[in-house]
Amino acid sequence: MKIAIDGPAGAGKSTISKAAAKKLGFIYIDTGAMYRAVGLAAVRQGIDTTDTEGVTSILDDIEISISYDESGQQIFLNGENVSAHIRLPEISVAASNVAVIPAVRLKLVELQRELAAHNDVLMDGRDIGTYVLPDAEVKIFLTASVEERAMRRYRELVEKGIQADFDEVKADMEYRDKNDSEREFAPLKPAEDSIILDNTDLSLEQSVDKICEIAEARKAEKQ
Ligand code: DC
Repeated sequence: MKIAIDGPAGAGKSTISKAAAKKLGFIYIDTGAMYRAVGLAAVRQGIDTTDTEGVTSILDDIEISISYDESGQQIFLNGENVSAHIRLPEISVAASNVAVIPAVRLKLVELQRELAAHNDVLMDGRDIGTYVLPDAEVKIFLTASVEERAMRRYRELVEKGIQADFDEVKADMEYRDKNDSEREFAPLKPAEDSIILDNTDLSLEQSVDKICEIAEARKAEKQ
């Protein structure tokens, strides 16, 4: 069984998806981490992440893989565990920029589909229900107001000891919303058969419970 969870930045996708996957006994795949790793590779090589040709030229030398340990999914860039390096605000923007480039998407979508072919997965991202796994049995579009999403991300950064400014966090989020939704190839949008879940006023536990309820109901229907 496949569960697709899409939505804009800061809707709580990763935290909620990780918890829901654990509860359901599914493997959680965070596809945003893959775009972040490509963004990080470009930034490290001094390539402008909006330069399609420049980014495309390094793709053959980039190998992305994932593994799991007690803290969850770990992401590797050419064998190096870069999980701790990909969460900085500048890498969020770099990820959103490289994600516009079709060659980047095709490379990562191949890996995502390969992982889903062999496991029961709960995969989160922007285009999982619409493009990566169009046959997913459960599709959820998780969203919240931009103020709430920016506030959540701001708190997360502060808790990690990363210096942040709320207005800047909100501006980055608005930039990413626009960039992710308006790109031509596999933009962020709810799949026609998705359930929209606005969690502005829901707690983390309530969102997780809601997703598990939907998944359990679908599973029962299938049996
Ligand atoms: O979910 P996230 O914030 O870690 O994702 C980082 C960026 O990667 C996001 O701004 C857009 C891009 N992305 C994408 O285009 N498609 C996905 N399936 C996942 C992420």
